[in-house]
Amino acid sequence: TVELSLRPTTLNQYIGQNKVKENLHIFIQAARMREEPLDHVLLYGPPGLGKTTLAAIIANEMGVQFRSTSGPAIERAGDLAAILSSLEPGDVLFIDEVHRLPRSVEEVLYPAMEDFFLDIVIGTGPSARSVRIDLPPFTLVGATTRAGLLSAPLRDRFGVLSRLEFYEAKDLCSIVERTAEIFQTTISKESAAEVASRSRGTPRIANRLLKRIRDISQVRGEEEISLSTTELALEMLQVDDVGLDHIDHKFLKGIIDGFQGGPVGLDTIAATIGEESQTIEDVYEPYLLQIGFIQRTPRGRVVTPKAYNHFGIKGPE
Ligand code: ADE
Repeated sequence: TVELSLRPTTLNQYIGQNKVKENLHIFIQAARMREEPLDHVLLYGPPGLGKTTLAAIIANEMGVQFRSTSGPAIERAGDLAAILSSLEPGDVLFIDEVHRLPRSVEEVLYPAMEDFFLDIVIGTGPSARSVRIDLPPFTLVGATTRAGLLSAPLRDRFGVLSRLEFYEAKDLCSIVERTAEIFQTTISKESAAEVASRSRGTPRIANRLLKRIRDISQVRGEEEISLSTTELALEMLQVDDVGLDHIDHKFLKGIIDGFQGGPVGLDTIAATIGEESQTIEDVYEPYLLQIGFIQRTPRGRVVTPKAYNHFGIKGPE
């Protein structure tokens, strides 16, 4: 599908995240020269920045199979054993939301990561016994929104830790232009820059906005996606001039109107606006922190004068 082909398949095609790319390029080269599997890699950072894409690229660049699952999908040690014992030597196993692996599964994973074997207990009571299963050497690529969510023993078993950052506008601009090309549409330079500057540093958001903008442009019968169409579409989608959406607004206004700008505890503000604390923390707060619209304090979240200014309202004091 077009959706799948949006994802770059090589490090060279992957735009941005230069530090992460440079490092991975060297580690992949070295592992290939030694004909060894790549060491285990932990990718962390806010959603939508390309962790899954990078994991698939690692497999492709290593010339091995890519197998993909997620922390919550692996409920029991047996599920993990089934996956690990079906790998070919050198394969990449990607575990998204790796911080959500059940503790019992995590414990089975340690020796698998370190020495490529599993200790599985068979049976219960007096007849229970432990069998050792040797595994093919493999590379675990784990993804999580924050490295701090992992237990220390699991985190310590990753040899490569890579933090993905929000993208610079120029990189997002290139991504938008690349995606437009894959969609076989043309987009004006100003329009691409506009989408880039209003995508919260996040390719997934940029590509999603581009799809809707393309719809409107198509219905309007344009040959090239124009700036006026882009602006209209973003207004329809309730994306403001710095890229904040309806939920960002609800969150910030909730703190401003309900709690005089804070501090307010995360769970309290989440309940007030009817959103999940976890979603606010993982999806919305990272960018608001990055652009300096909120601060985290020991007593809770605080909206900054910069955010007040954005809404054109006078702050407290
Ligand atoms: N599409 C989404 N993210 C991308 C990236 N980092 N590079 C190229 N294309 C992308």
